[in-house]
Amino acid sequence: MSLWRIVKIKETYQKLSRNRHVWLRYSLLMSLILLFLSLAIYERSLHSSATIHSLLDKSLWADGQIAGDDYVIKLGKNPRGDGQNISDKRVRYIVYTCDGTYCHGLGDRQRAIVSLYYLSIVTNRKLVINMTQPWPLSDFYEPSETDWTVNEDELKDRSSTYLVCLGKRGNQIKWDSVNFNKMYPQDVVYIMTNHDFYYQLRSNSLYQSKLPIRRKWRAHGEAWKAMMHPTAKLRSALNDELTKIGEVILEEKRVYSETNLSSTNCKAARAHSLGKSMYKEKRLLKQTDVEHSPTQKTQENESRIDVCRFPPPRFQYSVVSLSPIKSLRGYDVINMDLVCAHVRIGRSDTLPQEEYQRNDPDSVGGLWRFLQPYMKAGHHAYLATDSQQVRDQAKLAFGHRMHVSEQEIVHFGKTGLEEDNLRLALTEQLLLSTACSVLVISKSGYSMRAAMLRATLQGDDGLFFFKNGTVREIDAAHLF
Ligand SMILES: *[C@@H]1O[C@H](CO)[C@@H](O)[C@H](O)[C@H]1NC(C)=O
Ligand SMILES: *[C@@H]1O[C@H](CO)[C@@H](O)[C@H](O)[C@H]1NC(C)=O
Ligand SMILES: *[C@@H]1O[C@H](CO)[C@@H](O)[C@H](O)[C@H]1NC(C)=O
Ligand SMILES: *[C@@H]1O[C@H](CO)[C@@H](O)[C@H](O)[C@H]1NC(C)=O
Ligand SMILES: *[C@@H]1O[C@H](CO)[C@@H](O)[C@H](O)[C@H]1NC(C)=O
Repeated sequence: MSLWRIVKIKETYQKLSRNRHVWLRYSLLMSLILLFLSLAIYERSLHSSATIHSLLDKSLWADGQIAGDDYVIKLGKNPRGDGQNISDKRVRYIVYTCDGTYCHGLGDRQRAIVSLYYLSIVTNRKLVINMTQPWPLSDFYEPSETDWTVNEDELKDRSSTYLVCLGKRGNQIKWDSVNFNKMYPQDVVYIMTNHDFYYQLRSNSLYQSKLPIRRKWRAHGEAWKAMMHPTAKLRSALNDELTKIGEVILEEKRVYSETNLSSTNCKAARAHSLGKSMYKEKRLLKQTDVEHSPTQKTQENESRIDVCRFPPPRFQYSVVSLSPIKSLRGYDVINMDLVCAHVRIGRSDTLPQEEYQRNDPDSVGGLWRFLQPYMKAGHHAYLATDSQQVRDQAKLAFGHRMHVSEQEIVHFGKTGLEEDNLRLALTEQLLLSTACSVLVISKSGYSMRAAMLRATLQGDDGLFFFKNGTVREIDAAHLF
């Protein structure tokens, strides 16, 4: 209701009651003013005290249920909703759609999903996430505090529209000024996008009071956690990977206890092993010395535990048994003294169909140089990468202390391997967020999002950025 309507009501009332007592008029006017004041205070208190998700719950879902498959927003409980016809009792929807038409990479998708989460809050719409390509996301993440699933029938026969907002083309909505529900009055708005518009929504005068002020990393981390909970399937894939690492760490400890590092055998092994890299590092750390050669790989078997090539660890390992790893759930964080890195190469021999090269494989020596002191001190490392060549280099340089997935790297949507590929990508990303004392990310939305979630879960200590052959420490505020 507007001031205009108050005036209108007042005029009508004056006409009708010209002959009545003056006090009656004023008391009615006063109660109207009081009513508006209390409504305004109620709304303010909703905004200031509630967190993002409880805002959603209170305004939409708490009282929402009724009539068949429909939800009803109770009038008066839903004072917000700009441009929205508040006598409209239907719940409206935003449906994030990724069916293979316009999806982009995982980082792009996660960025878009988080932006739409905030859009759903400011527009009082129910968010639905429908990512089916290359494999349903819902196999690996299930709704956490916000239910983003929907029964298909619920959307049937509703008015709808499709928006495609991608890159610099497509539907360019001015997020910093749009009145979304007025522009798209349809019940269901299907959106394909890879845009990040959290800050633009924040600066939209219609919406800014409904959004918390957040750094990008925190806006992402909190929204992701509120929406997405790792399924048992995803978490057990991660626990399996961590268990394999734990087994090697424990085995290494046993082998050390049985090995005389100053024996002639050990010295000879050291001289002949690829572990030269630890002692005569410069040569092997250069990419030119590491040709990708399957024959050499099987002969040398870099994954065998070869303690002769490493000085013994300078600290007590945090992993003392495997059972705690097996019982980890959801976003549980574990300290395994791991140093982790994600290297996105882009187009390479492994993935020739990629659009362009993100990092020169020849520049990865800079990363090995960065890792070396950690490996010498006794840390184990996990490397996630989209290049087999980089995996091979890492194994050659650091042997059993370097852990990589054994799953072949293939194009994300490769027929027959869709599920495996999505599982690997999400498992490695969750590993980067929950199991690394040190994390090196590279220019990739995927590892940026991993770092944002990690900062939300455990702070941003030990966060580094690999670019153009060098690794430098960054803080979460610089994640974009
Ligand atoms: C609001 O919704 C009601 C019922 O659906 C409709 O009759 C009315 O015209 C709508 N008003 C506006 C401003 O859209
Ligand atoms: C989700 O996408 C699939 C196709 O990828 C489609 O069949 C299904 O109807 C969609 N569901 C919703 C709720 O949009
Ligand atoms: C380890 O090997 C060195 C060189 O062969 C030998 O002198 C030393 O006694 C050995 N130590 C043990 C504990 O066997
Ligand atoms: C390499 O070493 C690992 C660990 O000792 C062993 O399980 C594996 O069978 C070996 N592979 C080859 C090809 O020798
Ligand atoms: C990348 O590093 C090289 C030397 O390491 C330097 O010459 C070049 O300017 C750097 N490029 C960028 C874009 O920083």
